[in-house]
Amino acid sequence: MRLVRPSVEWKNEHEDYIKEWEEPRMTPSSFNLAGYENYDAYLETLKIRGSGDGKWVPSTNYFLVDENDRVLAMVDIRHELSDYLHNVGGHIGYSVRPTERRKGYATRILAEALKKCDVLGIRRVLVTCNDDNIGSAKTIVKNGGVEDKSFAEEDGTVVRRFWIES
Ligand SMILES: CC(C)(COP(=O)(O)OP(=O)(O)OC[C@H]1O[C@@H](n2cnc3c(N)ncnc32)[C@H](O)[C@@H]1OP(=O)(O)O)[C@@H](O)C(=O)NCCC(=O)NCCS
Repeated sequence: MRLVRPSVEWKNEHEDYIKEWEEPRMTPSSFNLAGYENYDAYLETLKIRGSGDGKWVPSTNYFLVDENDRVLAMVDIRHELSDYLHNVGGHIGYSVRPTERRKGYATRILAEALKKCDVLGIRRVLVTCNDDNIGSAKTIVKNGGVEDKSFAEEDGTVVRRFWIES
């Protein structure tokens, strides 16, 4: 397994992943392909956001792919925290392909993302999840997450917040 950056080579795998996605909202949202004229336009936007753009802080996206070049999971690393990210989003957002869940891939992609954070010099990494997301909370704790105060969003959603120190 390895991390790769989104590029045209991964277009079909990225689209297949989205076909499998059952929830209305894509996670992480930066992998959502809706509204782009084509994949090149998506990649161009991702590149611009990568160095920071308006509400988007600098970020890096990766796919976790297996030996057969199948995309198993996705991760978005935010290099700094805006107010929103400090309360809700955290430094790292990830998801695992619906057909590949409960096989340890979230635990693996978060571990790999933490190594990237280390290289970026982010020593205290904030990772969050909604309070009903047991799988994500377990993933964070398994990677060393220490829980901080939760944050209540306006719609009543409670966000659990964990710090992972390197
Ligand atoms: C949450 C999510 C990332 C977990 O991915 P995963 O690859 O299934 O997680 P892992 O296999 O690494 O499992 C990590 C731990 O959580 C547990 N777990 C995973 N899904 C679970 C679930 N739905 N309910 C209860 N426990 C769960 C696993 O059993 C494992 O614990 P264990 O080692 O004690 O057995 C995945 O379900 C997903 O992509 N969900 C939608 C997007 C999302 O919620 N992203 C996170 C945003 S904060």
